[in-house]
Amino acid sequence: MMLHSKLQSYMLAIACNIMIFILSANASRNHNLKHCSKSHQLKIVTPVKVENVTFPPFVNATASNNNFFLGGAGVRGLQEQGKFIKFTDIGIYLQGNAVSSLAPKWHGKSPKKLTKSIHFFKDIIRGPFEKFMQVTLILPLTGPQYSEKVAENCVAILKSLGVYTKEEEKATKKFLSVFKKETFTPGSSIFFTVLHQGSLAISFSKDACIPKVEAAIIKNKALSEAVLESMIGENGVSPAAKKSLATRLSKLFKGLC
Ligand SMILES: *[C@@H]1O[C@H](CO)[C@@H](O)[C@H](O)[C@H]1NC(C)=O
Ligand SMILES: *[C@@H]1O[C@H](CO)[C@@H](O)[C@H](O)[C@H]1NC(C)=O
Repeated sequence: MMLHSKLQSYMLAIACNIMIFILSANASRNHNLKHCSKSHQLKIVTPVKVENVTFPPFVNATASNNNFFLGGAGVRGLQEQGKFIKFTDIGIYLQGNAVSSLAPKWHGKSPKKLTKSIHFFKDIIRGPFEKFMQVTLILPLTGPQYSEKVAENCVAILKSLGVYTKEEEKATKKFLSVFKKETFTPGSSIFFTVLHQGSLAISFSKDACIPKVEAAIIKNKALSEAVLESMIGENGVSPAAKKSLATRLSKLFKGLC
């Protein structure tokens, strides 16, 4: 019975993908999402304003030719001496096929359920689609201040998964070196693309404009996924971005085909 309904879900997903493929075949650089229940999707994929940053609904990510839509966005802050200090705004973009990839398993679940589900975010982090993260600074930070905190979280994640080997150690060192000479003023941005091959493209800008070409590429799948996991995983630094992702994606699943 389980197998049967699972099979049906897969068949539905495959049929959906074929339809998307046929529909988008002659529309170069168009958004897959728009073709699948066009009006519904367009209404849902709206911009999100977090503090001073407006994250546009669709972007071209650094180092990728795929189409990305805004999965969700939220602030990242820390409780310091009884006050919530906001450090960055985080936008999480997903490749267009993410919706049809996630829908069979997560369709029909409430935003609240999705927000609480560790497995839902694991499926986003490890799913067969590219991810793109925009981190825009609210407070000034130096490259080392930012990257050491991220690296520390990533190493903890990799160790908890039991995949922190010499390769990941090397990749983490490279990650830190990419940020060494950077300084980030308020309004400047850091971008990460989690690419299909399991590499991480990193780029920087003085504003929210996305560079086409990366500042560096780190070839390590585990680390590239850990960077995203540090944002939206079990102990992710942005519960607000998680809630936003869960809310928006649950609506997108409803509108799928
Ligand atoms: C992405 O790039 C293409 C080609 O340069 C352009 O036509 C399109 O408008 C861009 N999309 C977005 C969302 O910026
Ligand atoms: C964000 O907006 C507030 C007030 O609207 C302003 O004081 C602050 O400088 C802005 N920060 C950035 C990074 O633009």
